[in-house]
Amino acid sequence: MKLDNKTALITGASQGIGRAIALDLANEKINLALVGRNKEKLKEVAHECEKLGSKVKIYPFDLTDIEKIPSLIEKVKVDFQVLHILVNNAGTYVDGNPFESDLKEWDYALDLNFRAVYHLTNQALALIPDQDSGAIINVSSIAGQMTYKGGEIYCATKFALRAYSNCLFESLREKNIKVTCIYPGFVNTELGRGENLDESKMIQPEDIASTVNFFLKTPITACQTEIIIRPQRTPYK
Ligand SMILES: NC(=O)c1ccc[n+]([C@@H]2O[C@H](COP(=O)([O-])OP(=O)(O)OC[C@H]3O[C@@H](n4cnc5c(N)ncnc54)[C@H](OP(=O)(O)O)[C@@H]3O)[C@@H](O)[C@H]2O)c1
Repeated sequence: MKLDNKTALITGASQGIGRAIALDLANEKINLALVGRNKEKLKEVAHECEKLGSKVKIYPFDLTDIEKIPSLIEKVKVDFQVLHILVNNAGTYVDGNPFESDLKEWDYALDLNFRAVYHLTNQALALIPDQDSGAIINVSSIAGQMTYKGGEIYCATKFALRAYSNCLFESLREKNIKVTCIYPGFVNTELGRGENLDESKMIQPEDIASTVNFFLKTPITACQTEIIIRPQRTPYK
């Protein structure tokens, strides 16, 4: 699809993968609506994107405040009128097992990683025109493809996103709105880094941004509905 004069909303744009996607789309001169809780960090990202020639608005917002999502989209509508690309990227990691768990943390992860996504998407769809280069990118995780001990709630939220995304593709394909779900392995961000991991061997946030760019530029006749991205070499030390 052609990217000029398009508008994208990116959640979790204040750092990490969302920030990298914002900068990449700014390079394409796409108008940007950036969502995250940290206003100062959003301002910094917005400033960098503006330097690349993009029109940017920031929306400091906690996506777990789910009942206020319609008012967030209302503000985006006032600023941009229309939306073409939605990147559902904001997310949190939580470990868990039934014996040592903070159920408030589990509910928070479910709200942010999954419930906020479908609430935001349903609202955002009202701004995405049919038959005009729409795209929805859902950032799941390799934990949305395979399970592991202690992954009870994180895997559950990312598997849910996988199922949701594939169904959404079926619902939107005749409107010519592309939908993909991305499943990264370890990415070099605050969420992904760990003492046992070599950062230089992790996927870099910019690698995810290039993948999104490639997806968006795919001709209108095709759609990569699922994209798995693994580190080329194992990042384990
Ligand atoms: N890093 C990895 O290894 C990895 C691997 C697979 C999948 N992922 C997925 O990739 C996505 C992005 O993660 P990342 O690695 O870039 O992590 P990150 O650096 O921790 O960034 C997370 C982003 O989400 C935003 N966010 C967190 N809680 C929020 C809330 N309640 N409301 C609104 N925004 C919120 C944060 O902004 P504020 O703090 O400003 O709110 C931040 O911009 C997540 O969905 C994650 O599950 C990451």
